[in-house]
Amino acid sequence: MADLEGMKGNEKKDYGIGIPVKKEAYFLKGLDHYDWGIKDRMSRIFNAETGRTVMLAFDHGYLMGPTSGLERLDLAIPPLIPYADSLMCTRGALRSTVPPTANKPVCLRYSSGTTVLTELNDECILDIEEAVRMNASAIAIMVSVGGTYEAKTVENLVRTADYGYKYSIPVLGVTAVGKEMVRDARYLSTASRVCAENGATFVKTYYCDDFVKVVNSCPVPIVIAGGKKLPEKEALELCYHAINDGAAGVDMGRNVFQSDCPVAMIQAVRGIVHQNLTVDRAYQMYKDLSVQAK
Ligand code: 5RP
Repeated sequence: MADLEGMKGNEKKDYGIGIPVKKEAYFLKGLDHYDWGIKDRMSRIFNAETGRTVMLAFDHGYLMGPTSGLERLDLAIPPLIPYADSLMCTRGALRSTVPPTANKPVCLRYSSGTTVLTELNDECILDIEEAVRMNASAIAIMVSVGGTYEAKTVENLVRTADYGYKYSIPVLGVTAVGKEMVRDARYLSTASRVCAENGATFVKTYYCDDFVKVVNSCPVPIVIAGGKKLPEKEALELCYHAINDGAAGVDMGRNVFQSDCPVAMIQAVRGIVHQNLTVDRAYQMYKDLSVQAK
């Protein structure tokens, strides 16, 4: 007030009006122009310091039944929750197994249909109100590019993105790879790009040779699935290479919950994703923590 009172005649004072203020870019690739709710939810799933995430996937039962390591959800999952940045699961597993007090962001499995007993990927989608009720930070939808149910699963993604953006819930496009598909950079780039262009906020796919090409041709963040169980050191190598090639994290299931020591394994994966540990150091960490866990 004193300054204003002190102004005389047409004396000009600079209040910063009209001077463009440089806005800090959002930390995740391709999401700068998204709205506040999407960014807020993505910032729960991804660590803003590292720009990465360790998602724990245990949605396998919806199509595999009680798969190895997940026979007892109530015993397998709770010890792992503290070490995950986010939980990816079905609504059934969430209500029955995850205490709401865990306070972890959830990526809710949003599509479901056929199981391993018939042909996979003939899926429908849930109701968006269920995702809101479950306080989902993201919703995950299977997309089968090149598969028998390609059109149906792409339509599922399109509808999911329409609903997701209505409520600012990010959409994870999950690239389903049928037995007939070759998991190479050409195929996975196509599948990931189809997900992104049809509205996925982020994409989950598999690691492959030339993975940099998959990352570079996808305009939004990519997280990798672990795939079938590997020896622990090889699974850590997979994480290491994926992160070094530009993956924004992992959404890993079997290589964690089927490990000889799941609690040690998820911490070693965290070491690679968030602390840039080498494979040897992460593997040593796994071995040390395994001994302590006994
Ligand atoms: C299945 C999924 C799984 O969540 C995904 O495959 C991750 O688990 P894993 O690391 O065991 O491959 O999306 O449709």
